[in-house]
Amino acid sequence: MVKIALIGAAGQIGTPLGLLCKASDLFDEISLYDLVHVPGIATDLMHIDTRAKVNGYLAEDSGLKKALTAADVVVVTAGIARKPGMTRDDAHLVKSNSLTLLKTNASIIRDIFTEIAATCPTATCCVVTNPVNSTLPIAAETLKKANVFEATRLFGVTTLDVVRASTFAAHALGNGASPRDFKVPVIGGHSGATILPLYSQAEPSVNLSEEALAGVINRVQFGGDEIVKSKQGAGSATTCMAYAGFRFVKAILEAKNGQSVIEEAYVYLPGISGGNEIATKLGVDFFAVKIELGKAGALKALPIGNISDNETRLLGVAIDDLKSNIATGLAFMST
Ligand code: LMR
Repeated sequence: MVKIALIGAAGQIGTPLGLLCKASDLFDEISLYDLVHVPGIATDLMHIDTRAKVNGYLAEDSGLKKALTAADVVVVTAGIARKPGMTRDDAHLVKSNSLTLLKTNASIIRDIFTEIAATCPTATCCVVTNPVNSTLPIAAETLKKANVFEATRLFGVTTLDVVRASTFAAHALGNGASPRDFKVPVIGGHSGATILPLYSQAEPSVNLSEEALAGVINRVQFGGDEIVKSKQGAGSATTCMAYAGFRFVKAILEAKNGQSVIEEAYVYLPGISGGNEIATKLGVDFFAVKIELGKAGALKALPIGNISDNETRLLGVAIDDLKSNIATGLAFMST
């Protein structure tokens, strides 16, 4: 029996993610939680001819607890999305008094993880809610406070950056190659300059001029902004994020079933085998690297490996930004 709980399931990421989960036939039970609409979405999904039983829970009558009970995997997409003018630069946002992405989503994440700690502390949890660079430390601190934190089971989903890195490389090459033919590691975080695609390690190699490559790197780093601008006030990435989130969930399930799987994710490095050395070298505890996934979650954080001079420079910038994003999340938890 495999149960997944989708928290924020009536949102524009949660709804297509629910469809992908139901269509996949990977689950026996899918529970949907949100403040509105989920009973209807569950009924709708139940007409699809796969085996998963789908239940929708609203906040009343301990709905979150019911949705989380016995969940093996939890995906959190709850919270508000970015609108034009909002950045994911948490340090800047927290200084302003306006309603910001972090201010709104930080307490949502804390409250959801308080319930996860009480109801399904051994579930594998995937955080999609932005700003991931700060919401993951908030989730980790909440679990730590409840004495149930296990870094091997807590992931910030950065798969969309990996998806974009191969997609945009294929677009730039324009030679008809499929984006899926490229594997490009992406490390760092999930916001602007903290996102670092390592094209020096791309397989097959991405042969572009220095200028064209710089353009592709920038597009991966600021791909989220491209969608925010294009949606003209209607929000940020939803469908491609659901696709990426589902790819990550599928990887977790494959690993639980004994397959050897490697995916990038934003994690608390010191709690994962091999992670401490990377954290000490970089000077940050939360960071996205390639993770070897296994039955119990993250088995190993893989070393970054050799990178180009330009990537080394960009890594320095990413770390500076990440330090401030992480500090912002931790500061929220200490207040
Ligand atoms: C993205 O990468 O597109 C998402 O994280 C949404 C955003 O706010 O950019």
